[in-house]
Amino acid sequence: MRSVIASVGILLVAAVYGTAFSEGMVDPVVANRQSSMKAMAEAAKTISGIFDGKLDYDAASFKAAAEIIRQHSGAMINQFPADSLGAPSAAKVEIELYRDEFAALARHLESLANGLSTAADAAPNGITAAMRMVPGTGTWTGSGSSLIGKRSAGVMKEDLSKMPAEHMFHLVLQNCTSCHAKFRERQQ
Ligand code: HEC
Repeated sequence: MRSVIASVGILLVAAVYGTAFSEGMVDPVVANRQSSMKAMAEAAKTISGIFDGKLDYDAASFKAAAEIIRQHSGAMINQFPADSLGAPSAAKVEIELYRDEFAALARHLESLANGLSTAADAAPNGITAAMRMVPGTGTWTGSGSSLIGKRSAGVMKEDLSKMPAEHMFHLVLQNCTSCHAKFRERQQ
């Protein structure tokens, strides 16, 4: 329902701004990436539900959700050509100015999602203790202050093979938020 309302909103904005597309048509490049983003949001909801115990753990669906994020984040780098930025899309024109940073965020997301996907392979029967974050150890205190990670080209170099999947998932959500904060127009 929400997406129907959003689509109608986009159509109205497109009509007002009179884009290169005929009235009532959304740029397919924009429509495509917006549906990729929605698919990632659904997948993130699934993983979050599993970690919170609201959904039963099932290795196949956990992996499928991680794979959706992995595939869409890898594809993201080419989904924002310069002529598709700005209204009526929520993608900021700044993406064109900071291509490297944008791509680094997308690649970082891809490697985190890959780590989650691999964690599912190692846990066919249930969430293992190794997948859980250990609270209060100070070992994993977020991407900015990890004792183990080292900064390189603005993105953390983490040893994902040793990181609990739950922590990776927190970094996934941080990654979505960081990119949106800089490159996505705030939603009304
Ligand atoms: C590298 C940057 C970047 C990353 C990483 C990123 N996004 Fe986005 N996202 C955007 C931009 C830019 C838009 C606006 C797209 C547009 O309107 O054309 C957007 C839009 C969205 C939307 C709205 C789609 C719509 O229907 O208009 C959702 C939902 C979303 N992102 C979810 C996510 C989730 C969940 C993640 C992490 C798993 C994520 N995004 C990661 C840049 C990013």
